[in-house]
Amino acid sequence: MSPRPDLLRGATIVGTGMYVPDRVMTNFDLEKLVETTDEWIVERTGIRERHIAAPDVGSSDLALIASRRALEMARIDPREIDHVILATTTPDRILPSCACTLQKKLGASRAAAYDVFAACTGFVFGLGLGRALVSARQADTVLVVGVEILSRLVNWADRNTCVLFADGAGAAVLRPCEPGAGLLAVDLHSDGELGEVLEVPAGISRNPASAQTVAAGEHFIRMQGKKLFPFAVRTMEDSSRRCIESAGWQPSEVDLFIPHQANLRIIEGVRERLGLPREKCYVNIDRFGNTSSASIPIALDEAVRSGQVKLGDKLVFAAFGGGATWGASAMTWTQPAWTEPDVAAVATATGRSVA
Ligand code: ACO
Repeated sequence: MSPRPDLLRGATIVGTGMYVPDRVMTNFDLEKLVETTDEWIVERTGIRERHIAAPDVGSSDLALIASRRALEMARIDPREIDHVILATTTPDRILPSCACTLQKKLGASRAAAYDVFAACTGFVFGLGLGRALVSARQADTVLVVGVEILSRLVNWADRNTCVLFADGAGAAVLRPCEPGAGLLAVDLHSDGELGEVLEVPAGISRNPASAQTVAAGEHFIRMQGKKLFPFAVRTMEDSSRRCIESAGWQPSEVDLFIPHQANLRIIEGVRERLGLPREKCYVNIDRFGNTSSASIPIALDEAVRSGQVKLGDKLVFAAFGGGATWGASAMTWTQPAWTEPDVAAVATATGRSVA
């Protein structure tokens, strides 16, 4: 049954969080693994270093820390969460879902929890789903997470991919707001015809894992990077324009554009086509590499916590990824500029000592 349009309400982001593993792998470390150079990687991708998870860590562990930080900012108890939407290509395992594992670790006991597989566009798909649920009054509190441990899907002997992908998690808490504020537009697309441009050929039902698939390295990511490049620039521009128009804005009014961090040249291509100045485009690919579905929420959290995002700012998120999938979202920021809590003041007010 579809909800009555007059019952629709707005949905907005009230908290963000991110987490990346401590271990940093530089381009110079990669020079020791494959035939590549720091110069090639920086010039062709913009990446200087990336974070790599320890062997005993799973995606749900990264997601847990990012989610706790987002909930803390939003001042929301995990038991208030109605839906946990977790976007990933690298769940802990196929069953149970990574979202259910996260739900257990978080103590989000009331939530419906499920994974979304939309590759690098996963977080934007999650935002779209979360916004629809909140707008239709089917949920009051939605946790949207993007998390990846792509270092496990990468063939560390394949220089075409191992220099790009990385690990990390980002999260956002959605809550209702006035209609006409918060998430104003979401534009989502897929084209299965392009599936082979970025794929993991084996491991599940089509080509189950066997000694042969492992020997052939078919459980690793394979990518046709040159084909993805123009597709990425075109689709991210188109989708961003659709959202900007549907929000009733001009591109020049956008305060901060947060693109999926896949390649600096792709980001620059989209930014130039949208006519945005450099300072309005968030870039952190130099420090984090391509963390797929986690890249936008990681960037958003950095921008929020550094005070770069202020009340009323117009934000646009845009992504593309395997599937192929692509999409964008436009929102007005409804929270005051973030300031770190004054720990000493809180301690004085509550009588608790500061460690
Ligand atoms: N170091 C040195 N040389 C390399 C490396 C490397 N790490 N990787 C590839 N090369 C070589 C190739 O073997 C090839 O050599 P050849 O011409 O002798 O065959 C050459 O460099 C390729 O050069 P270009 O094709 O000019 O490289 P390009 O500028 O296209 O950059 C890249 C390659 C970085 C993969 C680029 O095409 C790209 O970023 N594409 C999009 C990829 C992407 O965004 N993927 C993720 C999207 S989806 C998601 O985020 C999950």
